[in-house]
Amino acid sequence: MPERPANQADHRLIDEVEFGEDVVVYSFTNLYGCRIGDRTRIGPFVEIQRGATVGADCKIQSHTFVCDGVTIEDDVFVGHGVMFVNDNRPRTGGEWELLPTVVERGASIGSGAVILGGLRIGMGALVGAGAVVTRDVARGETVAGVPARALPARAASE
Ligand SMILES: CC(C)(COP(=O)(O)OP(=O)(O)OC[C@H]1O[C@@H](n2cnc3c(N)ncnc32)[C@H](O)[C@@H]1OP(=O)(O)O)[C@@H](O)C(=O)NCCC(=O)NCCS
Repeated sequence: MPERPANQADHRLIDEVEFGEDVVVYSFTNLYGCRIGDRTRIGPFVEIQRGATVGADCKIQSHTFVCDGVTIEDDVFVGHGVMFVNDNRPRTGGEWELLPTVVERGASIGSGAVILGGLRIGMGALVGAGAVVTRDVARGETVAGVPARALPARAASE
């Protein structure tokens, strides 16, 4: 298993990351204690925390934050500036419960979406830009808005 990404780039913090083959990581990224699968591309200004997992063939676009407890399966597109959450009632001190989230294979998340903690985004689902996702998203479903709600499926000819 490679210890480094496949490409060179300046200004990357990479600490205790398990890389698959041919992973590409751009500049100004913070990756620590996480796993990144084969051929996945991580854009600039992305932070991926200890305990997070990203699968193979994913695209994580710039300015996205992937926190502890998030599992992103294979072939997932995460747009620019997507924020994951693992604590729905944050406090500066005391005990807290980590809420794990799973993004299933083939799902896509639009730019600027916020994914609250403890959710499952189903296989092939599509989350609209700027959505705040507060509930699970079913397989193949398209959701948008604040809070995110299903958009009616469109016929292929439309
Ligand atoms: C959600 C999305 C997939 C819907 O696309 P679509 O099926 O072509 O939908 P339409 O553009 O026909 O819009 C359908 C309705 O949903 C609304 N809508 C579309 N996208 C929306 C969004 N992100 N948030 C809220 N409402 C949205 C439209 O205003 C429209 O409402 P109306 O019927 O009242 O006018 C798309 O708009 C989107 O947000 N994609 C994500 C793109 C992205 O972030 N890419 C990242 C890389 S650049």
